[in-house]
Amino acid sequence: MKILVTGGTGYIGSHTAVELIQAGYEVEILDNLYNSKESVLDKIAEITGTRPVFHKVDLLDFPGTLEVLRRGFDAVIHFAGLKAVAESVEKPILYYENNIGGTLNLLKAMRETGCRSLIFSSSATVYGDQGVARLDETMETGRGITNPYGQTKFMIEQILRDVCAADSDFSAVLLRYFNPVGAHASGLLGEDPNGIPNNLMPIVMKVSTGEIPELSVYGDDYPTPDGTCIRDYIHVVDLAKGHLAALAKLQPGCTVYNLGSGRGTSVLEMVKAFEKASGAALPYKIVGRRAGDLAELIAVPDKALSELGWKTELSIDDAMSDTLRFLGKNH
Ligand code: WQD
Repeated sequence: MKILVTGGTGYIGSHTAVELIQAGYEVEILDNLYNSKESVLDKIAEITGTRPVFHKVDLLDFPGTLEVLRRGFDAVIHFAGLKAVAESVEKPILYYENNIGGTLNLLKAMRETGCRSLIFSSSATVYGDQGVARLDETMETGRGITNPYGQTKFMIEQILRDVCAADSDFSAVLLRYFNPVGAHASGLLGEDPNGIPNNLMPIVMKVSTGEIPELSVYGDDYPTPDGTCIRDYIHVVDLAKGHLAALAKLQPGCTVYNLGSGRGTSVLEMVKAFEKASGAALPYKIVGRRAGDLAELIAVPDKALSELGWKTELSIDDAMSDTLRFLGKNH
């Protein structure tokens, strides 16, 4: 099978491209390199022995997107999109235009070229605030989403449901990621965002290299054992493998799966795990809560296990040691 990976030079996209190639898929990558580097292609080649065909294209460029889709693909895995929560609040038009407009162009190009299978990089953020910690796919989405980034993920899920309702031959799988962390065991691929990161682990990485003086822990007065927020951190390689499991079970219609471990880890536990792996103290200070943060968000991962035969296999300790290996090779 020939797969187009949009956003394939990004963090999750590149790890997924590696797993696809190693599983025998033919892979091409489309990316505008807004938040990634073309050199990632060389790392993919070093790991797999295959350098994917690369198209430097922005999905907002419909002619360019259509030209790529005309090469003929069995399925598209769609990662391309802006994903910084804080930035989306400051620049809503940029986020709606890029994430929604880009997806609509991709869908039009797929329709014009007869490609009828899409796996979408969605997010647990679509659950908003359910008032409970453990989230499953039967829960209503779209209420209490606190930022345009999350709204774009919710709206794209709705677009895909409507496309599947209109075209009974179309297959869409919505994968709701919890908190991706870690790096490829080779140390060649990892989270390396352009600019100032928002997420916990990229910030921890920059604190450990001294680029950021200390980690600000956003609140230790939550109703959790150590007072800091709890999240379901999933190793990026497990996450990548979840896409292959979804690909293997493609069927007409729109299906949704949580991709998470089902286990919660607090911010301070993540700090301690990083310190254990690095053998050095990580400087941090407790500061006020971050607006919009919820105390606890953990996946109920049962559906992906029962229907896709997928579950996480790597631990937080694996994620920390893999992250440090990536840091060692790339800093
Ligand atoms: C995790 C925890 C923070 C930074 C977001 C998106 C979600 C998904 C993952 C894309 C929280 C705490 C963080 C820091 C801290 N993104 N923290 N100091 O908010 O759970 O989810 O990223 O799909 O859609 O909403 O992830 O990494 O920002 O925060 O204390 O400097 O770490 O308060 O408790 P989050 P995060």
